[in-house]
Amino acid sequence: MTRHAVLAGVGGYLPKRVVTNDDLARTLDTSDEWISERTGIRQRHIADETETAAFMGAAAAEAALRRAGAGAGEVDGVIVATSTPDQAFPATAARIQAALGITRGFAFDLAAACSGFIYALAVADGMIRAGQASGILVIGSEVYSRILDWRDRTTCVLFGDGAGAVFLHAAEGPVTPGAPAVLSTHIHADGRYGDILYVDGAVGQPDRPGTLAMNGSAVFRHAVVNLAAAVEEALAVNHLDRASIDWLVPHQANRRIIDAMGKKLGLAPERVVVTIDRHANTSAASIPLALAEAVGDGRIRPGQLVLMEALGGGLTWGSALVRL
Ligand code: COA
Repeated sequence: MTRHAVLAGVGGYLPKRVVTNDDLARTLDTSDEWISERTGIRQRHIADETETAAFMGAAAAEAALRRAGAGAGEVDGVIVATSTPDQAFPATAARIQAALGITRGFAFDLAAACSGFIYALAVADGMIRAGQASGILVIGSEVYSRILDWRDRTTCVLFGDGAGAVFLHAAEGPVTPGAPAVLSTHIHADGRYGDILYVDGAVGQPDRPGTLAMNGSAVFRHAVVNLAAAVEEALAVNHLDRASIDWLVPHQANRRIIDAMGKKLGLAPERVVVTIDRHANTSAASIPLALAEAVGDGRIRPGQLVLMEALGGGLTWGSALVRL
C-alpha cells in the first residue's frame, strides 16, 4: 500500500533574552551598521542556563502537536537535528521524548549542522513512506551561544538560539494533486569542505565548549551555487516550474543569500519568509522557526506549496518541497 507523509503541525520556541547588535557593540569591535548591512541581522535570542536544547525542543514539539491536534500517543518517533546537544548521550531526542510523556517508539539525534532540519525531514519522510512509523516529531533545536567564541566578531554576531518542530503523520494512498504532502526531499554532502565551517572540540557544555570557526566568504560562495542546484532539483523531480511555488522558507544564514534565492525563483519579496533580522542564524532550528511564524500569523495557508532549502557545515545541503 502506498503511503506518504503530511505536515500536520508546526511550532517554535525562542529564548526570552534578546541581544541586539548595539548590545554586542558594547563589548566587541563591531557595529549595528556593519552587522545589519552585511547579514540582515538586528538581534538574536540567547538561551539562559535553563533553556537547553531539550527544553526548547520539547516546547516547540508541544506547540507543533497542539497545532496538529495530535496527542503524545500518536508519536511513534522523535528525530532531533542539533549540533549542540545538552549531552553526548542520551540523545536530546530521548530527553524530549521523556519530557512529552512518550514511552514508546524511537528517538535519536541527527547531526548535519544548519541543514539538519532538511536531513531530519528526509529521514522521517522516508520512514513514513516505508511504513516504519506513522507519526514522527521532527525537531531542530540549537544553543549555538554555547559554542561561539564571544570575542570573535567574525562569527559570534551571526548566530542565535531557538527551536522549531513539525509533526508529520502518514496518509494512506498516493499523493493527489493539490492535497497536503511532503512531495520531495533531497539531501547532499561534500566532506572535502569540512574545514570551511566547523566546531573544534566538544559541544553543548558551558564549561568545556568547542568553538565555531568559519571561512565566511567560502561558505557564502558554496551556498549560492549549491542551494540554487538543490532548488532546481526539487522543481525538476516534481515537474514544477518556479511559478508554482507559493513560499520560500529558506535557512536564515545571510539576508543576501536569502534574497538571491528568492530572486532566482522569481518570487516577490513578500513570498520569502525572513526571520534573520530577529532570530539571526539558529542553524537547524531556523527553517521550522520561520515556518511556525508564517503559518502562525496566517501568511502560509493550507494547500500552498512551500520550498525549503539549507546549507551548513559538512558541507551539507538540501531542499524539501511540501504542500501544507
Ligand atoms: N563587525 C565589524 N567588522 C567585521 C565584523 C564585525 N562583526 N566581522 C568581520 N569584520 C571585518 C573583517 O575583519 C574584515 O576587515 P578587514 O577587511 O579589515 O580584514 C571586513 O569586515 C570584511 O570581512 P569579510 O569576512 O570579507 O566580510 P564579508 O562581506 O564576506 O561578510 C559574512 C562576512 C560572514 C557576513 C559573510 O561572508 C557571510 O555571511 N558568509 C556566509 C556565512 C554563512 O552563511 N554561514 C553559515 C552557514 S550555515
